Amino acid sequence: MAIHGKVVAITGASSGIGEATARHLASLGAPVVVGARRTDRLDRLVTEIEAGGGRAAATRVDVTDPDGLRSLVTVAVERFGRLDVLVGNAGTTRISTIADLDVEGWAAMVDVNVKGILHGIAAALPVFRRQGGGHLVTVVSTSGLKIVPTQAVYAGTKNAVRTLLEGLRQESTDGVLRTTSISPGYVRTELVDNAVDDPAVREEVRRNMADLGIDPVAVARAIAFAIDQPDDVEIGDLTIRPTRQG
Ligand SMILES: NC(=O)c1ccc[n+]([C@@H]2O[C@H](COP(=O)([O-])OP(=O)(O)OC[C@H]3O[C@@H](n4cnc5c(N)ncnc54)[C@H](OP(=O)(O)O)[C@@H]3O)[C@@H](O)[C@H]2O)c1
Repeated sequence: MAIHGKVVAITGASSGIGEATARHLASLGAPVVVGARRTDRLDRLVTEIEAGGGRAAATRVDVTDPDGLRSLVTVAVERFGRLDVLVGNAGTTRISTIADLDVEGWAAMVDVNVKGILHGIAAALPVFRRQGGGHLVTVVSTSGLKIVPTQAVYAGTKNAVRTLLEGLRQESTDGVLRTTSISPGYVRTELVDNAVDDPAVREEVRRNMADLGIDPVAVARAIAFAIDQPDDVEIGDLTIRPTRQG
């Protein structure tokens, strides 16, 4: 497989899609560098991957800080000699109407979901150019494809990333950089656990997610598919959602 031996750094790998992606790619022979703020979870993940025969390293990353992404990329290069893929997966959401004026929540979504990706691009692009190759994978959302009430700002941040990646792609047609946007629908993770303040609504959102959401490993497999293509083949956009999702 083209994936074997590729060095992959993943943001937001302490839970959900990022964690499943780290496990899956490591099982396919990719050394993985996992970043997030909850380092206890990252350390446990590295131990488990290594116990299964894989290679992994962890470092604390807050994607709202450009230094966090720089250190993620540095760990990849120092531990494994290069960086082939950056999976910009870290994300956060708040569920509320715009009229609720959750200004803090908006700022958090812009900082993590948009600036976090830009910080990753800033850290990884010089390494990709120096190496003569690299792949940027971002986890966006079907929220940006079907716009629904209470998710406007979240959808806006995800579509901002979609736009950024298309712009970057247009500027990078010399064959050095591949870009991929993965759009998951409902996936059973911790994402919505703190997305709503009202306990009753929160419980309902959690129940819906548990009922409808697919296993995060399904998204991990989609990410692996994009990475596994030959260098001259770019999977630009991939949507993966529950069969029952409206
Ligand atoms: N679940 C879904 O239904 C769904 C659907 C479409 C798209 N997505 C997207 O999928 C991605 C992964 O989310 P998930 O569903 O797997 O949810 P999750 O289990 O809540 O994972 C989110 C991850 O992002 C990390 N993160 C949040 N803020 C961060 C920050 N400032 N710096 C570094 N890491 C940060 C968290 O780690 P720490 O808290 O340890 O830092 C965690 O590892 C997100 O971009 C999300 O928007 C999810």
